[in-house]
Amino acid sequence: MNTVRMDAVIADPSLTTPSLVLDFDQISQTYDAFVDTFPGGHVFYAVKANANPQIIRLVVEKGGGLEIASLAELELSLAAGATGQQIICSNPIKNPTFIQRMHEAGVYAMVVDSTYEVDKVAHYAPGMRVYVRLAVDNQGSVLPLAGKFGVSGEEALDLFDQARAHGLDPIGLSFHVGSQCLNVQNWVNAIRACGDIWQQAAERGHDLYMLDIGGGFPAGHYHTATIPTLDAIGAAVMGAVQDYVPLSNPMLILEPGRGLVGESGCLIVSVVGKAKRGQDTWLYLDAGVFNGLMESFEGFPPVMRLLAADADLRSMTRCTLAGPSCDSCDVVARHIELPELHIGDRLVMLDAGAYTNEYAVAFNGFPIPEVVPVNVRAAVELLAG
Ligand SMILES: Cc1ncc(COP(=O)(O)O)c(C=O)c1O
Repeated sequence: MNTVRMDAVIADPSLTTPSLVLDFDQISQTYDAFVDTFPGGHVFYAVKANANPQIIRLVVEKGGGLEIASLAELELSLAAGATGQQIICSNPIKNPTFIQRMHEAGVYAMVVDSTYEVDKVAHYAPGMRVYVRLAVDNQGSVLPLAGKFGVSGEEALDLFDQARAHGLDPIGLSFHVGSQCLNVQNWVNAIRACGDIWQQAAERGHDLYMLDIGGGFPAGHYHTATIPTLDAIGAAVMGAVQDYVPLSNPMLILEPGRGLVGESGCLIVSVVGKAKRGQDTWLYLDAGVFNGLMESFEGFPPVMRLLAADADLRSMTRCTLAGPSCDSCDVVARHIELPELHIGDRLVMLDAGAYTNEYAVAFNGFPIPEVVPVNVRAAVELLAG
């Protein structure tokens, strides 16, 4: 891998923007940190966070698993060398072709959270291992996922019964506490709820063994002190598993997306236009809501650093940052204080390894950021200094 320091990249005038700078070494180290922090746990990387083939291959080579949501993610995973047994699907809504193909490929297990999905899986993937997604509290997560998916405990028990009656193999429970979860107690409460259901399922004759605690692991704790660390989450999760799950050695599954790759990426953008509108200076960037910064539209503002060496930090102005497209919703941040910036100045968006390129489309012909492999941790230190 061509790993060069970020400072060299920044100094390189030939670097085109927007570029998504990714540190594959850091992803590898973060993977190891997950394995160490959750002893006995199995990491199934949520490919949706960043389907870069090199990341998928890295996880597979380290012996990890993959959590997929679609046929395209399945094909990417198999192409990266994953066996079916290294793949699970936690997307509750799957089309028949996808289910069939997963069955053929020997995918380990898939989630269900409705009677219709149980029928579908039984029809297209007879005998498949299934787990049920529980609806859990998402309060305290920057990007809640609650409402669209998941069932109550009572419904989960009925789905286990239905699955067994249809010849499927019910093996456990899953949940998702919401992305960028800042409330460690959400995992504890969710695991406690799973423990109760587990007990009742045993009384109905189900032999569950898998607990999938989903994603939600936040990025950014190394430069923002209020974000819970992996160690804090790990201690709470491992304690809750021991206290509430009535099985001495459950198959514990983690599905980190952002938590595995978020901090390993920086998005470098340029100011391409400027206008004075009302109280604000509008700065137009070459990446916006459509081509990389979609999460800002979902209420997750980017964490920025300036790359303008001559910026006068003593004289701040109120700015609105917008993307390059012709759509008026293409606004990345409103009314923030920045020093005077000029056309051509560059900004770095930190923690951009997840949900940037994966969400991006070339609307209006503005390009999706090019991936550049470098040492991002060095970059962050450089920017902090
Ligand atoms: C089923 C499932 N698992 C894992 C993830 C990854 O979540 P995160 O990026 O918050 O770790 C998601 C994200 O939407 C998801 O839907």
